[in-house]
Amino acid sequence: MNQHTANLSGEDAKDGAGSLLVKGEVDTRHGPILYLEDVSVSFDGFKALNKLSLYIDAGELRCLIGPNGAGKTTLMDVITGKTRPDTGSVFFGQTIDLLQMDEPAIAQAGICRKFQKPSVFDALTVFENLELALKADKRTWPTLFNRLNGEQRDRINEVIETIGLSTGHQLRAGILSHGQKQWLEIGMLLMQEPKVMLVDEPIAGMTHQEVERTAELLLSLQGHRSIVVVEHDMEFVRSIARKVTVLHEGSVLTEGTMDEVQNDPRVIQVYLGG
Ligand SMILES: Nc1ncnc2c1ncn2[C@@H]1O[C@H](COP(=O)(O)OP(=O)(O)OP(=O)(O)O)[C@@H](O)[C@H]1O
Ligand SMILES: [Mg+2]
Repeated sequence: MNQHTANLSGEDAKDGAGSLLVKGEVDTRHGPILYLEDVSVSFDGFKALNKLSLYIDAGELRCLIGPNGAGKTTLMDVITGKTRPDTGSVFFGQTIDLLQMDEPAIAQAGICRKFQKPSVFDALTVFENLELALKADKRTWPTLFNRLNGEQRDRINEVIETIGLSTGHQLRAGILSHGQKQWLEIGMLLMQEPKVMLVDEPIAGMTHQEVERTAELLLSLQGHRSIVVVEHDMEFVRSIARKVTVLHEGSVLTEGTMDEVQNDPRVIQVYLGG
C-alpha cells in the first residue's frame, strides 16, 4: 500500500493537503524522510531491485546489509537519481517526488552520497578542500569569488572539528592517511548541510583505529541528519547500528536490531547459503 496521503510534488505541494509547508521544505511530520515503495529496477531482465519498500526516519542512522549483489548500491543509485526505477515511488519527506528530479536537483535538495573512493584534492589543504566544498554549494555561488566571511570560516572550522582533523587543518590532503581522507570527504559533504547522507562501504581499507573513529563520527552525526550506511563488516555495523535492514535479491528480507537480524534463520540462510 502506498503510505502517501498526499502524492504531491512541485506546484501542487503548496496548494494541496500540505499547505502549511513552504515549497521545497522536506515534510517529515510523519516521521520518515525517505519513502521507497514497490521500487523495481531491471538490468536486461535481471531484477536488481524487486518491489523494494523502505522507510528511513528523519535523524536516524540506518545500516543496510546483504550479500553481494543484493541491490544495496542500486538502491543508493535510485535515491540519488542516478538510476531510474521501472516501477515504484521514491519520496523525500511526504511531498517531494524524487522521481521527478534529476541528479543535481536531488543533491541540491539535500540528499548527498559518499562514494568509496575519496575525491579530495590532494594539493589543497584540509581547510581549502572544505572551502571548495562550501563554494561548490549552488546556494552560495554568488560568493564564489569573494573571501570567506566569518560565518563561513566558523562553519568550516566546526566541520574540521567534527571530522577530527583540527590539528591537521593546514596539511595538504595528499599526505593524509586513507582514513583521514575519508573523513575529509565526509566533511566536504557536511559543508553542503545535507539532510540525508548515503555512505557506501565507508571503512574499506581502514586501520582498526580509523574504523573506530569512523563509527564515532557517524554516531555523532545521527539526529542532525539521516544517514544510511552500507557495510559488509558486521563488527562495524554492530558498533553503530540501531536498526538494520537486510537486503536480499533486491528486496527487504528483514529489519530489526543487529541481534534480531543476526539470529533470524532467513538471514543466516542467505549468508551461509550464498
Ligand atoms: N548497470 C548495471 N548493469 C547491469 N547489472 C547491474 C548494473 N548495476 C548493478 N547490476 C546488477 O544488479 C545486482 C545488484 O547490484 P548492486 O551493485 O546493487 O549490489 P550490492 O548489494 O551493492 O552488492 P555489493 O555488496 O557487491 O556491493 C547485481 O547482480 C549487479 O550485477
Ligand atoms: Mg555495492
